[in-house]
Amino acid sequence: MSLWSKHKLLEKNSIFMSIGVLIVISIGGLVEIVPLFYLKSTIEKVEGMRPYTPLELAGRNIYVREGCYNCHSQMVRPLRDEVERYGHYSLAAESMYDRPFQWGSKRTGPDLARVGGKYSDEWHRDHLNQPRSVVPGTVMPAYPWLAKTDLDFEHIANDLKVQTQLGVPYTPEMIANAGADIRIQATPDHPDADALSKRYPKVQSRDFDGDPKRITEADALIAYLQLLGTLVDFKLYNDKANIR
Ligand code: HEC
Repeated sequence: MSLWSKHKLLEKNSIFMSIGVLIVISIGGLVEIVPLFYLKSTIEKVEGMRPYTPLELAGRNIYVREGCYNCHSQMVRPLRDEVERYGHYSLAAESMYDRPFQWGSKRTGPDLARVGGKYSDEWHRDHLNQPRSVVPGTVMPAYPWLAKTDLDFEHIANDLKVQTQLGVPYTPEMIANAGADIRIQATPDHPDADALSKRYPKVQSRDFDGDPKRITEADALIAYLQLLGTLVDFKLYNDKANIR
């Protein structure tokens, strides 16, 4: 019997064929999965990552509530065109405190993983209020209510508590100060600003929405957007070898 006719046997018999397919796929699967059992962690340690401040977390909640993830991803893939457009590709550790993560799967608008610091607060204000006032022809919808709605943060400490149950390392001190920390971050030159930046290094504190008398949903969302991609110093993690 030639090799060819042996193969015929396999192709004509669906049971043999199925068993053969199963064996081949299992080998492929094992090669991918087994090494993971021997790794302590699949997330490399990255300096600079910290949990969100209460104001940023509140902003993130608004991002999720408004469905921004339907049009925006937050994951720069290690492909040359993406890295040239958005900056260093995303590291796993950058979303380690995201519960749930906001990688997204659709880009009607650009990726936002590195948008922090790209625009002024004023630009974000105008853009959220009426995107076409700063980008004529954009299809992004307007969110004019954000700057008009006071941020409801009565229960923000509970939000932090839930996050700790999901593994985010908020300390009891952070939870106890959650409400106060929102006020500190949204107030320029607040006397307790130092305590806040001790709890949350690299925190940006100011009046984000242009209305110093109120803390609005726009304050929270802009604080969150301005933080994205700013925590890790990528001079330390410039691994060009992974870019295809
Ligand atoms: C229907 C799709 C859609 C939705 C929903 C949407 N956007 Fe956009 N977004 C876009 C498009 C398209 C652009 C590019 C043009 C522009 O800047 O408006 C954009 C641009 C942006 C930019 C500027 C990014 C850059 O690098 O230039 C930011 C920031 C942004 N969106 C934030 C948000 C936030 C926050 C929300 C939710 C409150 C949101 N978007 C919801 C489509 C959307």
